[in-house]
Amino acid sequence: MENIIELKNLSKDFKILNKKSGKFSVVKDLFSTDYTVERAVNQINLNIGKGEIVGFIGPNGAGKSTTIKMLTGVLVPTEGTVLVNGFIPYKHRVKYVKEIGVVMGQRSQLWWDLSVEDSFKVMKEMYELSDAEYAENMRIFEEELCISELFDKSVRHLSLGQKMLCEIVAVLLYNPKVIFLDEPTIGLDISVKTKIRKIIKRMNSQQGVTVILTTHDISDIEALCDRVVIIDHGTIIFDDSMNKMKQLVGSERKIIEITTKKVISDELTEKIKGMFTKEHLQINPASNKRMDIICDSGEVDINELLLQIMEYVGIEDINTVGVKIEDIVRQVYEGNLL
Ligand SMILES: Nc1ncnc2c1ncn2[C@@H]1O[C@H](COP(=O)(O)OP(=O)(O)OP(=O)(O)O)[C@@H](O)[C@H]1O
Ligand SMILES: [Mg+2]
Repeated sequence: MENIIELKNLSKDFKILNKKSGKFSVVKDLFSTDYTVERAVNQINLNIGKGEIVGFIGPNGAGKSTTIKMLTGVLVPTEGTVLVNGFIPYKHRVKYVKEIGVVMGQRSQLWWDLSVEDSFKVMKEMYELSDAEYAENMRIFEEELCISELFDKSVRHLSLGQKMLCEIVAVLLYNPKVIFLDEPTIGLDISVKTKIRKIIKRMNSQQGVTVILTTHDISDIEALCDRVVIIDHGTIIFDDSMNKMKQLVGSERKIIEITTKKVISDELTEKIKGMFTKEHLQINPASNKRMDIICDSGEVDINELLLQIMEYVGIEDINTVGVKIEDIVRQVYEGNLL
């Protein structure tokens, strides 16, 4: 497979001003040379092939957004090289902009005062799409997302989910070679998430767009990615297939967040722990009335577990969530795979 992205020893340092206190501190800060250097991305080597969908995950502050900003030409690397489809992003920004699409949760491509359809038409002109190309992509968006329902609405009045759908459509519209999606499904309900996943999958298989996706939602990764890259403290700690990651995490793994009526005693925690073997069950106290239970649902009798808890401390609320990134990262460090 031909590479479309090549990162060699890529690093990024941020200089952080050590703030002064006291009289005239603001003025002193203006002229200060007292900085601490923080390395956000550390010597990353990564090749991504044309047409891959890669999940780029890691805990908060790991360096994901910083890496994406270097890939998209927003930030200049401190060291190392970035090449995307033959372009050096921060140098070739004018030509490069047509090669890529970027959707970042916090930044908008759309024009607030225009209607959705007019916004798309502006994109068509900016990216010099032919009428035929525009019509073909709109046909796909209509088929998958019923996008024309939103055409007359002004962008300002869209719901969060509708807006995110439109952002992604606006980017896929001009057939970029690579799209970077930084937390595209954050705060969205499952029906919008599903639509977003569908359209990304289809444009990948039909138009061959390469996708780099960062998310805290592992189910996004499971639905879309064949390959997963995990970054922590600026360093890549895992780069392998989705299957390998599932093996690491346990495909049956569940996290149950339980809020109890009474305070959870040490005695209860020990009792529950004693019921199952350590590798199948992990209990993390979150507060004196909340605990997170991470378990292998294949190996642990969840009903029995909940009955015990109910009997001792009562259950106020239960929430089952997918596996958390932090849990996966811990497993990597525990050497289950490396
Ligand atoms: N402009 C900046 N100036 C100084 N430090 C920064 C800047 N941008 C990021 N950092 C620091 O670099 C590190 C990596 O941040 P980055 O935003 O890349 O993390 P992330 O993996 O995207 O995290 P999150 O999951 O929270 O979005 C953090 O320690 C952050 O505080
Ligand atoms: Mg980020």
